[in-house]
Formats: sequence, structure tokens, C-alpha cells
Amino acid sequence: MKKVGIALLGLGVVGSGTYRILESKKEKIMRDFGVELEVRHVLEKDTSKAVALGIDLSKVSCDIENVVKDDKISVVAEFFGGIEPARTFLLAVLKAGKSIVTSNKELFSKHWPELEAAAKETGAGIYFEASCGGGVPIIRALHESCQGNDILEIKGIVNGTTNYILSNMSEHGSDYAETLKEAQKLGYAEANPSADVDGFDSTYKLSILSSLAFNKRVPYTSIYREGISKVTIDDIKFGKEFGLTVKLLAISKNVNGKIEAHVYPAFIPDDHPLAKVSGAFNGIYVVGDNVGELMFYGKGAGDLPTGSAIVSDIVYAATRAEHRRYPFILEAEAQDFNDDFVSEYFLRLTVKDETGVLSAITGILGKAGISIDSMVQKAGSNGKATLAFVTQKTTELTFRKALSELEAAPCVTEINSVIRVEK
Ligand code: HSE
Repeated sequence: MKKVGIALLGLGVVGSGTYRILESKKEKIMRDFGVELEVRHVLEKDTSKAVALGIDLSKVSCDIENVVKDDKISVVAEFFGGIEPARTFLLAVLKAGKSIVTSNKELFSKHWPELEAAAKETGAGIYFEASCGGGVPIIRALHESCQGNDILEIKGIVNGTTNYILSNMSEHGSDYAETLKEAQKLGYAEANPSADVDGFDSTYKLSILSSLAFNKRVPYTSIYREGISKVTIDDIKFGKEFGLTVKLLAISKNVNGKIEAHVYPAFIPDDHPLAKVSGAFNGIYVVGDNVGELMFYGKGAGDLPTGSAIVSDIVYAATRAEHRRYPFILEAEAQDFNDDFVSEYFLRLTVKDETGVLSAITGILGKAGISIDSMVQKAGSNGKATLAFVTQKTTELTFRKALSELEAAPCVTEINSVIRVEK
């Protein structure tokens, strides 16, 4: 039987999960795919992690040369996360003709062309199913199962930590900071919470998904980004009155040949399939021109779910005679994007509780050509009231202009929040 040597770079949460799956499914993989996968080397400085997994310490070191020089290793799975040393190590193993498997969305979204070029030179493969959606098989689905379509839209909840936080705030009225700590304890969160809560992690993943969908590299820097730190329990409560649920969405659309790519918290109708994606789960909604709507759902983080996608890539890499290539080098340019996109908006204002205030506000919106879909008004204390609106469709620039007029209006005490609504 064909025997393929594997190296694991790091034995953190996902590295350990991957090792456990490789061990528990060894016989099954031999039976079903005709290949024996043998872990020949592990890079890990904390040897107690290797001991806990029963890995012989003769296979553990901190020296990438032990991987590069071993001719029997042909697939290397990386679990370090971040850019360095992952980038240097992966380039070295690609140059040695070994295929790489990674869940490292940051590295992949920032250095994909460099990795692809190194892989092409030696004929090695690059596999990154686990980089987006953890265990959810979205990469292969987009690349290998939707060829008969133009992808029109991707709308995803691709960060488990923020979904866990927003779901807990929404379902239990939980505190933001406490819930973030819980997510970190459960192993969902990135080492630096900003990567999750400020939307960077989602932006990296959307860059990868959009590049596959539109066959043009969509740099993460071209994706508009807002995190969840400004979403409050009050927004969530008002949203409920409008039948809306808030989610951190990674959205990319092909609108008349122009790309619109954004990561921001958005309200979606309670009956949208993504509204039911709760806790640390991920959900990715895709629309193709022929297939119509598709929905992918599952665990987006964690040892065994992400390990499941990594092992799938290892089996692919170990059994392919030729690895798939990503021919696009073409980078999407400024003219490929549309910044003045159309959306509906949720707007919450604190205003003076006086006669004529409502008509002044609706007057400003009306003059800007913004039509109101629904409104809720609540009297507060100290002569103040809260107004919450959901608008009908308008463009971002039109809305921004109206917002600055509202800011300047004497009857408006504060603009509390603006959240886009995706219907
Ligand atoms: N921090 C990420 C998340 C882990 O919360 O989804 C998986 O990429």
C-alpha cells in the first residue's frame, strides 16, 4: 500500500485534533483511499503536548530542516497561525516539493500568490479547506462543485467567536466582555481578540472565498471592515421589534460585473437561514446563477471540526497524481469594485422629546430621497426620546450625507447607531 509521510507544524488545539483524527481514522483511510498516512515529524517546543498524544519524542523537534530534509515526508500541515515563521517554513517545504495543508487564513489571504508560485515551481500542492469555515467544506464546494455557475453572492457568518458573542447577547442579554472571555476559554477565539471582534479574521476568510468565487484575487485590504464592538443590547432589542437579528456578516457580491465586498455587523430578517446560525457555528450562504441558493453550515472552529477539514486536505494531497492549480494571478483593481453600494439601514437616534421633532427627522431623510420602511419610538427620561428607523434601499453615499445632516440638526442629541440591514 502507498505510504505517505506527514509532518505537523505545531500541536496546538487544531494540530492535536488533527493528530487524533489521523490516528483514529488510519485504518479507515487505508481501506477507503488506499494510502497509509504516517506522521513522521512534529515541530513543537512544548514536548508535553506530544507526550499527551503518545507521540514518540524522537519525532519531535523545533528544527524545520528535519522536515525539509526528510524525503519520505510529502505533506506538511501547518498550525502555527500568523505570518511568521509559518510563511518561511511553508515556502521552504514547498521549494522541497512537499505539499502544504493549512488553516492559516491570515497567511493565505496575504501571501497566496507567493505560496502558489513556489508550489507551481516544484509541482507541490497547496490545500486550505480549513482556512474558511473550519470543518465546513466550503472551499472545495466553491472551486470544484460550482463550475457551472457564476457566483452572484456569498453571505457568510465565518467567525465563530463573534457569532458566539452576538448570539449570547441576543438570546440571553449577556455581557459582551464576559462572553468574549468564555469564547476564549472554549478555544474559538484567536490569540489576539481584535482579530475576531474587529472583523480581521472574517476579512481574511472573505478575501479567500471571494477570490475563488470571482476568479480574481480580492485582496483583504480592499474589503470594507467594521467589527462588532459598537453593537449594543439596545440595538439588539430594537432589532427584535423589527423582526431582525444581528450577525457579523462577510458579504461579497457580483453586481453587474462589479465586486462589492464588506465585513460588518448587519441585521438580517429572523427567518433568513443565517439568522438560525447560533453560537460558535458558521453558516455560508451562496447564490449561483444556475444552482440558486446554497447554504453551508457547521462548526467553524475547534480541534476536531477544523482537524476534519485538515485531514480531508491531507488525504487529497496524499492521493493526487497532480495537484490543482489556481491560475489567477490577476488582482482585482479599484475599477473592479463598487464602493457606493445599495443597502437598507437601521438607524437609532436620541432626540429631544418635543413637538415637530419626528417630522424634522423624517424631513431630512425625505429630502435626501431616503424612504422609511418602519419606525419605533420610545419616550425616555429627561425630555429625551429614542427613535429607531429601518430605511428602504439607498446608497451608502446618500445615507452618509443624510447622516451628517442629522448630526447637525438641533433636535438630535445623539446618533446612537447605524447598522446595515441585509434582506
Ligand atoms: N477565531 C476563529 C473563529 C477561529 O472564531 O471563528 C477559526 O478560524
